[in-house]
Amino acid sequence: MTDQTATPRAFCVSVPLKGRIAIPGDKSISHRSLMLSALAVGESRVTGLLEGHDVLATAAAMRAMGATIERRNDGEWVIGGVGVGGLLQPREALDMGNSGTSTRLLMGLVASHPITATFTGDASLSGRPMGRVIDPLSQMGADISASPGGRLPLMVRGLAPAIPLSYRLPMASAQVKSAVLLAGLNTPGITEVIEPVPTRDHSERMLRGFGAELTVETDGDGTRHIRIRGEAELKPQSIIVPGDPSSAAFFLVAALVVPGSDVTIANVGLNPTRAGLVDVLKQMGGDIELLDAREVGGEPIADLRVRHSALKGIDVDPAVAPSMIDEFPVLFVAAALAEGRTVTTGLDELRVKESDRIAVMAAGLKAIGARVEEREDGLVIDGTGGDPLPGGATIAGHLDHRICMSFAVAGLVSKAPVTIDDIVPVATSFPNFEALLAGLQR
Ligand code: S3P
Repeated sequence: MTDQTATPRAFCVSVPLKGRIAIPGDKSISHRSLMLSALAVGESRVTGLLEGHDVLATAAAMRAMGATIERRNDGEWVIGGVGVGGLLQPREALDMGNSGTSTRLLMGLVASHPITATFTGDASLSGRPMGRVIDPLSQMGADISASPGGRLPLMVRGLAPAIPLSYRLPMASAQVKSAVLLAGLNTPGITEVIEPVPTRDHSERMLRGFGAELTVETDGDGTRHIRIRGEAELKPQSIIVPGDPSSAAFFLVAALVVPGSDVTIANVGLNPTRAGLVDVLKQMGGDIELLDAREVGGEPIADLRVRHSALKGIDVDPAVAPSMIDEFPVLFVAAALAEGRTVTTGLDELRVKESDRIAVMAAGLKAIGARVEEREDGLVIDGTGGDPLPGGATIAGHLDHRICMSFAVAGLVSKAPVTIDDIVPVATSFPNFEALLAGLQR
């Protein structure tokens, strides 16, 4: 999973993108479907699971801790759970590949089970901060020894029964929130997470869906108090995973910037804690129509019809950042093609994603001729007003799937090809990205 040979790929100026596509399942919901099904008592079924490397890392880890997880020929996944409290001691280190979500959420699960697990990952993941989960999980009683700087490889020795905690999130992070809630699942009494800035709420929705006693109370200032009663019994579920808005993002922007395009993206999850990009692109003048808005598995979804549009630069409200935190790399590409200036602020968290997405996007956009100023917490971009970018550079993707796909989109509107040094990381979240793109170019 982590040692494939680097494969460069060039993306060239594109014909109009036309047609209808369905993007793969939501990564966040896929991880949680496997984890919660593995902790239920009995057999759960999941359709539309994202079969990307990150989610497969979660599947392998849950298997190593006792769950049975099988993919049937029709694409449905069947998971036999061990019950909360029933996770087994894994015999080998858990290889998390590139996946921060797998690592942080599974550290939470292990923390309140009487087992010890070692977590390893690729070069990107091994550079990412884990102190943000080590702190609360240690307060709950887990004994965690990490590499210098609170990095991987690290070992979590869980404590059962663990100590319930009330924890105020020091940063807007759904992964930290989820790690504490998942640790709370096998902890006696009430575990509370206090969330001043709302982040994606899939854990809350799904824990409730699986039958956990979870309440959310919102203060006058918007702060959320999420409380879970531990030693829960989870009931097996049938889950349909909606399409990932973070994957749809690349085709949304591609259709907006490639002249003559008209693309419909089917079944896109539009949970309000994830849908910030659609609003921001509309504010920039993007022609995006929501069709057939409906609900699937407790999540709002719709089909999105997107047509090429003359985009205008805007000041992006930092308050929307958590609801589009993974979409900034491709938004920066849209801004580079817009008329006028786009200013983004409050994006400190982008510096600790699969790569430092502020620095890497600034460097790559400059290399292909965009006008970009890097600031500590965001980028200021002066767009071309719809003219193609010069292009003609090789971009270092830094093992970051979203960087690779963002520059692939940039290549579609560049005079000279944009080459990604290694396209392999795209498979962590979007294995059929290139196939879907080719289908829209026919
Ligand atoms: C995720 C939360 C976000 C996001 C990541 C998936 C999740 O990370 O960037 O891709 O599934 O909970 P943070 O919680 O670190 O912001």
